[in-house]
Amino acid sequence: MKTLITAGGHGTRLRPITHTQNKHLIPIANKKMLAYALEYSKNAGISEAGIIINSGDTSISDAFGNGESFGLKITYIEQSAPLGLGHVVKIAEPFIGKEPFIFYLGDNILVGGVNKFIEDFRSNRSNCHLVLSKVPDPNRFGVADVKDGRIIGIEEKPDNPKSNLAVTGIYLYDNHIFEAVNNIAPSARGELEISDAHQYLLDKGYIVSFSEITGWWKDTGKPSDLLEANRLVLDNIKDNRMGTIDSSSIVSGRVVLGKNSKIINSNVRGPAIIGDNVVIDNAYIGPYSAIGNGCTILNSEIEYSILMNDCKISNISRRIEASLLGNDVHMLRTKSKPATHRFILGDQSRVEID
Ligand code: DAU
Repeated sequence: MKTLITAGGHGTRLRPITHTQNKHLIPIANKKMLAYALEYSKNAGISEAGIIINSGDTSISDAFGNGESFGLKITYIEQSAPLGLGHVVKIAEPFIGKEPFIFYLGDNILVGGVNKFIEDFRSNRSNCHLVLSKVPDPNRFGVADVKDGRIIGIEEKPDNPKSNLAVTGIYLYDNHIFEAVNNIAPSARGELEISDAHQYLLDKGYIVSFSEITGWWKDTGKPSDLLEANRLVLDNIKDNRMGTIDSSSIVSGRVVLGKNSKIINSNVRGPAIIGDNVVIDNAYIGPYSAIGNGCTILNSEIEYSILMNDCKISNISRRIEASLLGNDVHMLRTKSKPATHRFILGDQSRVEID
């Protein structure tokens, strides 16, 4: 079995972060989002992964190379334009060949891996196996209509969902999915929808089975989803303190503290992860914070936030909360007069100040 993972698409809802980096490289608990899909594939005994990338995007192959460090052989497949998930499957046929495969949306994060879903797919001897999850907002997703334990219909982002069962971004297929994606037409928004391919399989009488996720799963479409995924991953981390903590600091709960990092006269409350070469000085780092490598936090407070690498936060009087900071972001309080706010913000930046 091979794995097919998406890392293309628009990433519009995560701007401005996605102006300068592919959304699938955004860190969740200090690990690139796509690394979760690669690790779960490896843990499921898979040795070959195909990754779909936007045409000309080298950032994903720069990050993951030939896959050796994950114990996988990675092939990169360029998509000419984001023409839909049905299109993704269509262009992957030469890579997949005839064998069954797992299709994994690289922006989906879940805990517990995918082994159970593969077992369910095999034991049901199905042509297509979907992984469903109950959600409060089904109109954001593909939605399954389930009657007497069987899927009888699938609709993509319906205005009036027939259930609260979202189709998550983990799918198992045999080669009939290629027949489906070659026989559907683009939707009103011009994409070959994967939900239409699933409906095609149902209409033709192919076996479409499902598992329901009992743990948690997150489609990381919006900044608030990233913070929530970060929280959920941090809830499962183990304490590992490699850096130094001085005697006037208090570090409580499960905290990962990277190499060469220093906590000085500060209060750190886990679960939290702090990368390598970080200085936390006279500061507070609260639960569900992920601080990237090379950051400095001085006389400031941070909680429930993601800071990417090399950020500098200094003398900020109000706690920074529920925030997402890209790489090399500097937030400093200056002493110069007149007292003004001074910003250098990229397109679509968001600032909330009191
Ligand atoms: O997350 C689950 C949902 O994913 C399902 O419930 C929906 O049925 C399914 O259509 C999909 O909806 P999204 O609107 O969340 O899909 P999105 O456009 O965000 O793309 C999902 C992933 O696929 C993401 O990694 C980007 C990538 N992608 C997307 C398109 C449209 C590509 O690589 N190429 C594409 O053409």
